[in-house]
Amino acid sequence: MLRSALSIGLVSATVLLSGAALTGSASAEPGAAPAPPPPGPGHSAPVPADSLRALGDRIGLRIGTAVNTDELGSNAEYTRITAEQFSSVTPENVMKWQLVEPNRGTYDWAAADRLVSFAKKNKQLVRGHTLVWHNQLPTWLSSDGFTTTLSNNEVKAVLKKHIQDQVKHFKGDIWQWDVVNEAFDDDGKPRETIWYKAWGGLGYIADAFRWAHEADPKALLFYNDYNLEFTGPKSNAVYDFVKTLKAQRVPIDGVGFQGHLDTQYGFPDLQNNLQRFADLGLKVAETEVDVRTFTEAAPNVNTPTNPLAVYAQESYWSRALKACLAVRECISFTPWGFGDTYSWIPGWFADPQEGAALLYDADLKPKSQYYVIQQDLALAAGAPRRDGGGPGRP
Ligand code: G3I
Repeated sequence: MLRSALSIGLVSATVLLSGAALTGSASAEPGAAPAPPPPGPGHSAPVPADSLRALGDRIGLRIGTAVNTDELGSNAEYTRITAEQFSSVTPENVMKWQLVEPNRGTYDWAAADRLVSFAKKNKQLVRGHTLVWHNQLPTWLSSDGFTTTLSNNEVKAVLKKHIQDQVKHFKGDIWQWDVVNEAFDDDGKPRETIWYKAWGGLGYIADAFRWAHEADPKALLFYNDYNLEFTGPKSNAVYDFVKTLKAQRVPIDGVGFQGHLDTQYGFPDLQNNLQRFADLGLKVAETEVDVRTFTEAAPNVNTPTNPLAVYAQESYWSRALKACLAVRECISFTPWGFGDTYSWIPGWFADPQEGAALLYDADLKPKSQYYVIQQDLALAAGAPRRDGGGPGRP
């Protein structure tokens, strides 16, 4: 019911975010051919007033998505949705160390630069992901994140150089950086990665934040992890740890709650956790939300085995968003992609098979979960307005 009311009431107004659409041919000579479109996977589409991004804008909440840069520009529908529905973008893979420096000393920023340029054209902010992680490292550094042939001093030197070079390369273009990703295990113990071993403890994290801050003082710097959503050993350990970082005046601005949810588990006490981290004087964000469920075997990996599962998924998406809406310091809500074909879930959770985790189906059609989120945002106009700050904010 509200779904149709929404489309009737809101679809008529279209917010033109792109000045280019208004001015593109204004200066052309009479009879001259129109100027060619700018290079790269540009879009500059009009933003529908009932899009997720337009509805989020009313309360200053950025609605983001992880982006598969192979599809951006080459897949017209994927590109259109990215531009129209989302006001922030996160590179799903192309800012990770393995991709930006596959060979030691030689950077390849091309794919990440294209995404940043797309974001600028479409008035989107960028979440930089991720500077310090134990996964997706180049093989010259480590093939598993826990062992390396480099000495401790070399590990320290390459991490410092990596952070300085990457943050400087994107200086002024990144709203939030995931400076450190997944440094704790589920039992709350520090993960004993090559970073932990080289420093002989968690000292690398404060160094990483300080180096990133020096390289781009205006970027918001985040610690990002999964399973912080519910109160337990991991969430408690990260809470205590970021509290000590704040006490030591380490330049940390926020904590990212990845939000990889699964209908086989109870819904976490997410709002409580967002709020208690916010109460430390931090911003918070939901950074990688998806809601998986049991699905059929290949090739139907995105067909739920239980047709009622969709109701649980709708509920989880709605509650995840509402937890963010209820906490003023929650500045962005980012699903980990849109379009079940591109989700990491079916490949990773294959036995038993899970999938169907995103807001759009394998044909890039919005699912009922999308309309639930849209409705929640439409009803959220009275939620506390948030100020995400950061560079490049339109
Ligand atoms: O690009 C290569 C391709 O050339 C090759 O043929 C193919 C064969 O395996 O691999 C392709 O690379 C894959 C890459 O995704 C791009 O599709 C990697 O194998 C695969 O491991 C990688 O998975 C990514 C995963 O991080 C790695 O841990 C997922 O796309 C990405 O969604 C996922 O994202 C992480 C966040 O960064 C941190 N939080 C958890 C989240 C989910 O795991």
